[in-house]
Amino acid sequence: MKLPPRVTICEVGTRDGFQIEPEFIPTELKIEVVDRLSDAGLPAIEVTSFVHPKVVPQMRDAEAVMAGIRRRPGTVYTALVPNDKGAVRAVDAGADELRTVISASESHNLANVNMTVEESLTRLAAVAEVAGRAGVPVVAGISTSFGCPFEGTVPLDRLDWLCGRLAALGVRGLGLADTTGMANPAQVARTFAALQPKWPGLEWTLHTHDTRAMAIPNILAAMEGGVTHFDASIGGLGGCPFAPGASGNVCTEDLVHCLHAMGIETGIDLDRLIDTARRVQAIVGRALPGQVIKAGPWDRRYPLPDSVAARRGG
Ligand code: COA
Ligand code: ZN
Repeated sequence: MKLPPRVTICEVGTRDGFQIEPEFIPTELKIEVVDRLSDAGLPAIEVTSFVHPKVVPQMRDAEAVMAGIRRRPGTVYTALVPNDKGAVRAVDAGADELRTVISASESHNLANVNMTVEESLTRLAAVAEVAGRAGVPVVAGISTSFGCPFEGTVPLDRLDWLCGRLAALGVRGLGLADTTGMANPAQVARTFAALQPKWPGLEWTLHTHDTRAMAIPNILAAMEGGVTHFDASIGGLGGCPFAPGASGNVCTEDLVHCLHAMGIETGIDLDRLIDTARRVQAIVGRALPGQVIKAGPWDRRYPLPDSVAARRGG
């Protein structure tokens, strides 16, 4: 395998994860989780989203969360926005970067943000203006990039067209999101190979959901194609409230563990990450899908059974 020596992980659990939690998570606990993630050395954290508080009630405390977190030098604190109103709120709250949302498929865009794709593009142009005036970079995420739960296949031409429209807004990067875990590694490789060379100056991110256990294989396929930015959720939290069948993102500690086992650097402290995942499980009151939290890291060793130790002369 030809893999990069280092990758950048953006933690999205407090946004993509917490947004679908049915019980409101108190603001101080959201802040505590972000602070723990900062302490674990995450280079980027998508802290919250500035969306309509009635549409996503869990994110109604976005301003308070942004105001309460500790800012670790070296971590980028980003926030999701669907429109210029959200962008103004996020900039006022001190977001280091804005992440916008639009879907490749019309049906999911209407379900998610109540706009046609063309209407969203108009709003995102306004977001880019707000961000440009504030000197805040924008990374444009594209939901349902690899398939839509309503429409099925999303043609590569369609994705290509949307990347072009978003690139023209002067964004720093594009994020291809597999909203409901429909992508497979061959498709991921093909997609990045087709699109990345067309806009080589952009930073490309892959945002995965592990709905069908293909997230890490998809990330590896993207890495082989030169992609070095990935979103992940602590404990494997996550899911889109407006995409039926959506479930958690790739689990951050499982991904970091896999990368470290292969000798790829992330700058993240895995032990602290696992402690944070335990804390998040306590906060949401249930076990999360992460595996390493249960199994321990690959180099965990167990004491030899006495009978075996005796035979080995120990
Ligand atoms: N933050 C807070 N309020 C907002 C807002 C934002 N980002 N955008 C719009 N509003 C308010 C408007 O001010 C207006 O308020 P009013 O009724 O008091 O005048 C009201 O919402 C309606 O505005 P409109 O532009 O018609 O929005 P909408 O009702 O069509 O909702 C979105 C559009 C995008 C705001 C809404 O669908 C949304 O927040 N979606 C987010 C979905 C999401 O987070 N999905 C998961 C992440 S991918
Ligand atoms: Zn997502």
